[in-house]
Amino acid sequence: MGKIETIGVLTSGGDAPGMNAAIRAVVRTALYQGLKVKGIRRGYAGLLKEEIFDMETHSVSDIIARGGTILYTARCPEFLDVEVQKKAADICRKHGIDGLVVIGGDGSFRGAQALAKQGINTVGVPGTIDLDIACTEYTIGFDTAVNTAMEAIDKVRDTSTSHERCSIIEVMGRHAGFIAMWCGLANGAEDILFPEKYDGDEQELVNRIIIHRKLGKRHHIIVNAEGIGHSASMAKRVEAATGIETRATILGHMQRGGSPTCKDRVYATMMGARAVEILLAGGSNRVVAYKQGEFTDFDIDEALAMQKQVPENMYEVFRKLERF
Ligand code: ADP
Ligand code: F6P
Repeated sequence: MGKIETIGVLTSGGDAPGMNAAIRAVVRTALYQGLKVKGIRRGYAGLLKEEIFDMETHSVSDIIARGGTILYTARCPEFLDVEVQKKAADICRKHGIDGLVVIGGDGSFRGAQALAKQGINTVGVPGTIDLDIACTEYTIGFDTAVNTAMEAIDKVRDTSTSHERCSIIEVMGRHAGFIAMWCGLANGAEDILFPEKYDGDEQELVNRIIIHRKLGKRHHIIVNAEGIGHSASMAKRVEAATGIETRATILGHMQRGGSPTCKDRVYATMMGARAVEILLAGGSNRVVAYKQGEFTDFDIDEALAMQKQVPENMYEVFRKLERF
């Protein structure tokens, strides 16, 4: 394997607070090691359009505290086509990119895996608010997102209590319940609904609301994951069945923005730096991870084969505390 001289960096899939801190760490670690750095705008879509530019130290000045990604992000469905992947690898070679850091989620790692098969050294850095990357206990953006959602839910809870209402608050997580679970615990919710657990038994939900009200509870907070969704219609049905005024609040994309927390900045920095070190050491088809208190990395094929669930004990603790 030839010596790495130039690395590329892109962000792909849903953005996440802390991606900028990761970009900064990638760029500055690479420059420190004497490498050239090419920024690629708009993920794989931008790579195919050759939206590639030189990055210097000042290119990443003043970004560590900013949410979003200065490289922009995109989804690129055509990247599933092997001919398109070959074209992308040729573009990397044309621009002298012999190592590529991909900051994104599982989908983006599949793209990185495909490029590695086409001869480009790739390393993935886990960036998603959903925490749903199996090989790692931490993903860039989750900490900021749950803190943003937690603060918002506290506010809804205040007004919900004043009006003695029931509130259904929808948080992000189309396929994963980590945000819902963490917010449910952090906000002292009465119910948490998420795809891996909720069996759709609305009558049971209604019964619990009625029991809680009889026992003197002045609000009933239901944290509902996007994967269950339909919060507005659920609120109407719950109100009709319980006779208790019920409101739905969908937090939406506010959870993806904002200045990253200290944890997101620090972990993103450590992960970005590690990605460059892996490339320098001759690694490819790897993904950076945080596991059992250590920053580490895995083969992408192995990482993508792993499974991850919302820990059962979190749900058990929640159920015990929620009994009134
Ligand atoms: P995330 O990276 O957050 O999981 P997506 O699943 O939307 O987000 O994936 C981001 C992009 O990664 C897709 O738009 C596509 O360009 C690329 N990608 C996803 N799956 C594959 C795949 N199986 N093969 C190649 N590229 C993929
Ligand atoms: O993967 C992060 C995420 O925010 C999911 O929780 C959510 O389902 C999805 O992205 C929404 O994506 P979009 O940007 O397409 O609305």
